Amino acid sequence: MSEIKRVTTRSLQEMKRLGIRISALTAYDATMARLFDSARIDVILVGDSVANVVQGRSTTLPVTLDEIIYHTLAVTRGVERAMVVADMPFMTYQVRADEAFRNAGRIMKETDASAVKLEGGIEQAEGVRRMTAAGIPVMGHLGLQPQSIHQYGGYRPRGTNPEEAAKIITDAVALEEAGAFGIVLEKVPADLARQITERLTIPTIGIGAGPHCDGQILVYSDMLGLTLDFNPRFVRRYETFAERTTEAVKRYVQDIRDGAFPNESESY
Ligand code: KIV
Repeated sequence: MSEIKRVTTRSLQEMKRLGIRISALTAYDATMARLFDSARIDVILVGDSVANVVQGRSTTLPVTLDEIIYHTLAVTRGVERAMVVADMPFMTYQVRADEAFRNAGRIMKETDASAVKLEGGIEQAEGVRRMTAAGIPVMGHLGLQPQSIHQYGGYRPRGTNPEEAAKIITDAVALEEAGAFGIVLEKVPADLARQITERLTIPTIGIGAGPHCDGQILVYSDMLGLTLDFNPRFVRRYETFAERTTEAVKRYVQDIRDGAFPNESESY
């Protein structure tokens, strides 16, 4: 595969075909997005996890379309290569397919995102069909759907019994048929993710879905160890920035108290 200048739906399709794993992270601002892009991440998701990471909320439900548009604009300003996907917030696509279509259109028109993502399967197929017919690439999201957390009553893995697993497979096929270019699989058994990945021609991106997906995504603050109180088994921490940040700020506070900052060379 030749060097990708800008990751597109076609590049992701090609990566699946060639067996090249897709890397993805969330981001919500230009500074982090620029760093991830320079590290050659393939996909940056402006997730509605902005609710937890940035807004300090306990669920993703309160995020608004305007907030996603604001954060997506910031992210796209920091990105040259990665594909930027914007999450559709709760209740911006569930009511009617035409409303979903219009809201996806707002994201595409008012930001530089290349695609939108939404949760749900067959019940969203009509909206997905309308969006893709109008040139809006859509990523699906199956398995654990955080916008349905009150209905589930918790964050347990999904698809662990035969009925739930069969529904997830049906939903995945329906999304592909409706034109989705990829599907996030969240917190499902590795073997179910493998079956779906083998069955679909579009890439699957896993989070807590085992090693057989075509790609992997994590929420960046978990991956970098910025959060201390969220430790599901699927998160691998590549850094310990919570401790390191607290230590750095403690030294800064101490230097100010001691009159050691700023020194002469840091002054005019
Ligand atoms: O909002 C988000 O961060 C997500 C990922 C967990 C896939 O949807």
